[in-house]
Amino acid sequence: MPAIRRVTQAYEATLALGAAFALALRRGDMVCLFGELGSGKTAFVKGLAKGLKIPPLGVHSPTFTLMNIYEGKVPLYHFDLYRITAGDLPGMGYEEFFYGNGICAVEWSERLEGFLPPEHWHVTLRHAGADRRAITITARGKNLKERLAKIKL
Ligand SMILES: Nc1ncnc2c1ncn2[C@@H]1O[C@H](COP(=O)(O)OP(=O)(O)OP(=O)(O)O)[C@@H](O)[C@H]1O
Ligand SMILES: [Mg+2]
Repeated sequence: MPAIRRVTQAYEATLALGAAFALALRRGDMVCLFGELGSGKTAFVKGLAKGLKIPPLGVHSPTFTLMNIYEGKVPLYHFDLYRITAGDLPGMGYEEFFYGNGICAVEWSERLEGFLPPEHWHVTLRHAGADRRAITITARGKNLKERLAKIKL
């Protein structure tokens, strides 16, 4: 499967990768992040916000809220699903965001199970040493696969 694979050597490098990737995003895109605690999901989302020209101070880990909205030219909806299970999702109104006009970035997408939209960016992050993180970006769905093939980071 075509993929963008990087090993970042520092927090700032993960931020920069997110910022570069953001330039390829479009309204309605969903970025699903998979990876354990401390693997750099929030760092990557901060990078997305930077790439989308959203002021950095507005972005923090939404640990105690399910979602934060960051207003930019294109809004970024930042979800952290650590505390929920897939069974909690129906009735929460997430569809408005997942299938909306902004860009969604979802930490702990493991929790989405059967609720993952067919078209999404699939980003996995894993520890590869103290300050190293192995990050893989792949695409799910025909449209995004075609777009991925054209992305140059
Ligand atoms: N290459 C790297 N990329 C990203 N973060 C790194 C890197 N090296 C070290 N770190 C550190 O790892 C931590 C990553 O934290 P971050 O909040 O982004 O992770 P997370 O995956 O969102 O965790 P959580 O599951 O708790 O939300 C930070 O403390 C950061 O300084
Ligand atoms: Mg986080």
